[in-house]
Amino acid sequence: MKMGIITVSDKGSKGEREDLSGPAIRRIVKAESYEYAVVPDEQKEISEKIKDFVDQKSCDLVLTTGGTGLSPRDVTPEATKAVIDREIPGIAEAIRFESYKIKDRAMLSRAIAGSRGKTLIINLPGSPRAVKECLNIVLPVIPHALEVLEKGSIECG
Ligand code: MTE
Repeated sequence: MKMGIITVSDKGSKGEREDLSGPAIRRIVKAESYEYAVVPDEQKEISEKIKDFVDQKSCDLVLTTGGTGLSPRDVTPEATKAVIDREIPGIAEAIRFESYKIKDRAMLSRAIAGSRGKTLIINLPGSPRAVKECLNIVLPVIPHALEVLEKGSIECG
């Protein structure tokens, strides 16, 4: 499995803040190879990076961190929506539902998930702690989701 990690952060992209969330994702999700990028909170740049990781770098899974909240600069969900073929609402619903039990502000995340071709794309919030909490919720279903996307049709039972 090849995965892409995109940290969305104005400060991170300028080198003004160390990215702790991208490396946290890498420690938690085991893959054979990784692509990694830090981009500013610019919708077009985020969309282009997702497309690059899917179409050119052939990532099976792309995880973004950051830019899902309510500030005017938070545009990761819009950037993701612009490049996915199909939304997978249940992933974001489960993350919000479970995260809300840990931190009530989790309901403020507008994160989405979806597929582009055979690639699964999931938005995660920005803080390293939130990344770990959210990944714990979705990790168990990622292998099955990737298998279905890859093979097209398998028995789900
Ligand atoms: N989800 C979990 N599991 N744990 C958290 O601490 N923080 C929330 C939320 N989701 C949080 C969480 C907060 S405070 C915000 S503002 C939103 O994610 C959006 O975060 P982002 O703008 O960094 O993406």
